[in-house]
Amino acid sequence: MNDIKIYDNSALVGMRKACRLAKLVLDYVSSYITDNVTTNELNDVCHNFIIENGAVPAPLNYNGFPKSICTSVNNVVCHGIPSDTKLKNGDIINIDITVILDGWYGDTSKTFLVGECTNLAKRLVKAAKCALDVGISAVKPYGYFGDIGKAIQRYIDTCGFSIVRDYCGHGIGDMFHGKPTILHHDNNEKGQQIKPGMFFTIEPMINAGGYKTKVLKDGWTAVTADKSLSAQFEHTIAVTDNGVEVLTA
Ligand code: MF3
Ligand code: CO
Ligand code: CO
Repeated sequence: MNDIKIYDNSALVGMRKACRLAKLVLDYVSSYITDNVTTNELNDVCHNFIIENGAVPAPLNYNGFPKSICTSVNNVVCHGIPSDTKLKNGDIINIDITVILDGWYGDTSKTFLVGECTNLAKRLVKAAKCALDVGISAVKPYGYFGDIGKAIQRYIDTCGFSIVRDYCGHGIGDMFHGKPTILHHDNNEKGQQIKPGMFFTIEPMINAGGYKTKVLKDGWTAVTADKSLSAQFEHTIAVTDNGVEVLTA
């Protein structure tokens, strides 16, 4: 059964606006990322920018999440909660922004280097960025969702890193997390067919060590089981008749 929503052109117009704003928030917060800034300060900068632009930060109170953005530092895979901990030279930090604008959700994230990072951290962040690009390139109208994980796996295997399996991309549009679930690793499932009018995210989390994760006692913070570094990039994309539009580019 095909239960993935197909949206019309007016939805695409709304999604373009929401996704453009999410991208602008990432650009805006990037100039605040230095050692000594706290992730709470980054949260507040983003929160205020989102509100001033007439939108709402989707994470705030989402299933009880306490903050407006996710800040995932070093071995944190995703869903890191902003706190009064300061960034320090050599950290990597993923900032994940989701805004709701006129009812439409725009979701994007990026991993930043703080000051001078190790070669391993630099290689990992580059690989995570390439993994997203490779995943997007695998999306074809009338292709299959399984092609995405296959392509990312083929690439990441050449880097000697691993792909997180516990968290996935997702359908988006007039809701935050809908069908389909986008696996970023190779799986034997061909998956459903990709069709024009679908909106979804691709957001591979790449670990320097093994793929396993665990959630801390706060119920949110996902970390690598082996404490290795993890990096992630995310875009929201729209499938069109002749290809793909990266809405958060
Ligand atoms: N933005 C995340 C995603 O890419 C979801 C964050 S949910 C939260 O899907 F509650 F942790 F904010
Ligand atoms: Co997402
Ligand atoms: Co996100």
